[in-house]
Parts: sequence; structure tokens; C-alpha cells
Amino acid sequence: MKLENILVIGGTGKTGRKIVHLLKESGHNVRVGSRSAQPSFDWHQPGNWSKALSGMDKVYITYQPDLAVPGALEAIEELVNQARKSSVKKLVLLSGKGEREAELCEQVVIHSGIDYTIVRASWFNQNFNENFLLDPVLDGVVALPQAEVKIPFVDTDDIAEVAVKAILDDKHNGQIYQLTGPELLTFKQAIATIANASNRAITFVPISIQEYSQGMRDANVPEDFIWLIEYLFTEVLGNPKNSEITNDIEQVLKRKPISFTEYAEKVAATGVWNSLKETV
Ligand SMILES: NC(=O)c1ccc[n+]([C@@H]2O[C@H](COP(=O)([O-])OP(=O)(O)OC[C@H]3O[C@@H](n4cnc5c(N)ncnc54)[C@H](OP(=O)(O)O)[C@@H]3O)[C@@H](O)[C@H]2O)c1
Repeated sequence: MKLENILVIGGTGKTGRKIVHLLKESGHNVRVGSRSAQPSFDWHQPGNWSKALSGMDKVYITYQPDLAVPGALEAIEELVNQARKSSVKKLVLLSGKGEREAELCEQVVIHSGIDYTIVRASWFNQNFNENFLLDPVLDGVVALPQAEVKIPFVDTDDIAEVAVKAILDDKHNGQIYQLTGPELLTFKQAIATIANASNRAITFVPISIQEYSQGMRDANVPEDFIWLIEYLFTEVLGNPKNSEITNDIEQVLKRKPISFTEYAEKVAATGVWNSLKETV
């Protein structure tokens, strides 16, 4: 097996750190691309990207905070230009399933002239234990809009395994994979599964998007984060086409995707959902 030099942008994040682990396990030379890494990679400092790209054969790209936000398209265009100059041979882009703005960024990668794979993922399971849904779960009351929408939550373990195959094997070049979990669940069903796995009482409260946004404003959440959350709840969850299950994970990994129950039982065993919230 040829050992390669691989830059993993977002290499300490939800998918990136798992990809770094899997690639290192197979002996590849991995460089983490993040603000805390050396050399540092910051999406807001394009003048410094060449240091992180230097000597890399392949790059896994996760953009922060989301490919749908203003400025993402220009950043991806610039990254692709710099990757070309650095003679990078393959790009694997993590994209959001059902995000029209993200598809514009995908097009930049697709037309880069560099080999590529696009990995479009639906909502991560891990939003409930590593992201903005952890706090409400710990509070025991989860109030969310789009209560009736059925969501094909996907596990970041599966995304990472697919991405690693895409990075290492040329047979995935030119593919757009759409990754979903094996079932459609409402938020209420997801919360009930977490409550059951962690042996806790957690109440789900359906609210409107306006009420949710107002709650974030009252809690002084920054406006650009509120914009992104509104976008994800309206454009992505509000689009019925996104309530579908695909079999791309099974096609690539030759096994079934991880179910939400398996995810919830694994996370519950770590105790994270039974820990007390820190009070300031
Ligand atoms: N969450 C979902 O449900 C979901 C679904 C589909 C697609 N996605 C896509 O997945 C991607 C990752 O989203 P996520 O929320 O799961 O985050 P994440 O991967 O957990 O992101 C954190 C990573 O990004 C790095 N980072 C943060 N700000 C950065 C900056 N300005 N420049 C460079 N690196 C930075 C962090 O390291 P440092 O702090 O050291 O910089 C860390 O490595 C996004 O593009 C999102 O659209 C997410």
C-alpha cells in the first residue's frame, strides 16, 4: 500500500478526528487542518493556507460553520486554487444533503480539475451529544421546531469510514455520495430514544421557528448562528425531499448504517447525557 500525505481540515471535529484516527491507523502521514494545529489553518486567513497544503497529496475538506453561509463559496474557490498550485491530487468535500448553497461549493470542487469525491451528509446523530442539542438534552427539556418532520439522522462514524474509503481508493473518484441513517425519525422519537438509552426523563416540546429564534436571541446567541439555524430548520428540514433514506453507506461500506438506537446506547454508556451541566 502506498502511504500518502493527507490534510484533514477540521481534523479535530466530529468527522475529522475520526478520519485522522483511521488514516493514522493505516500508516498514512496525516496533517490536521485547524486553528489550533501547527501549521495553523484558519478559514479566515487564506494567506496562511499554503503552509498547511504544502506537500499534501490529498485533502479532506470540512468548512466552518457550514457551506451555506455567506463567504463559503469564495473560500472554497480560493482553497481549490491553492490546492491546484500545491499539486494536490484529490479532494474529498463534506457537504450538507439538501443544501442548495452547499451544492454551489460542490460544483467548484467538481470542476477543479482535481480528482474528487463529494460526501453529502444529512443531520448528524452527534448533534445530540457534541453540538447545540446537548445542552437541552442535559436540561431535560428539548424544544424544537419542525416537530413533525422525519429526519434520516446519520452517524459520524459511518461518514468517517466512507470518507476514508473515498480518500484512499480511486474507485470513488467522481462520485457524489448521499449519506443517511437507516431510518426516519422525528425529533420527538430521537429524544425518546436518548431518554430510554440514558434512563432519563426528557420532555420534547414542539415550538415554531419564530419561538426558537426568539429563544436564541433572548440567550444572546450571535445573529450569524441564528441565521444558520433558521436556514437549516427551514431550507433543509422544511424540504420534504430531504426526508429520504439512501443506501450509499451500505454500497460503500458493505454493511448497514448505524441506527439511532445503536448510537444512543453507545453514547449513553459514556455517561455524557447523565453528567450535570456546569453552572457559571
Ligand atoms: N452537524 C451536522 O448535522 C452536519 C450535517 C451535514 C453536514 N455538516 C457539515 O459538517 C461540517 C462540520 O460541521 P460540524 O458542526 O460537525 O463541525 P466540526 O467538524 O465538529 O467542526 C469543528 C472543527 O473545525 C475546526 N474549525 C472551527 N473553526 C475553524 C476555522 N475558522 N478555521 C479552520 N478550522 C476551524 C475546529 O478546530 P479548531 O477549533 O482548532 O479550529 C474543528 O477541527 C460543516 O461544513 C457542516 O456544514 C454538518
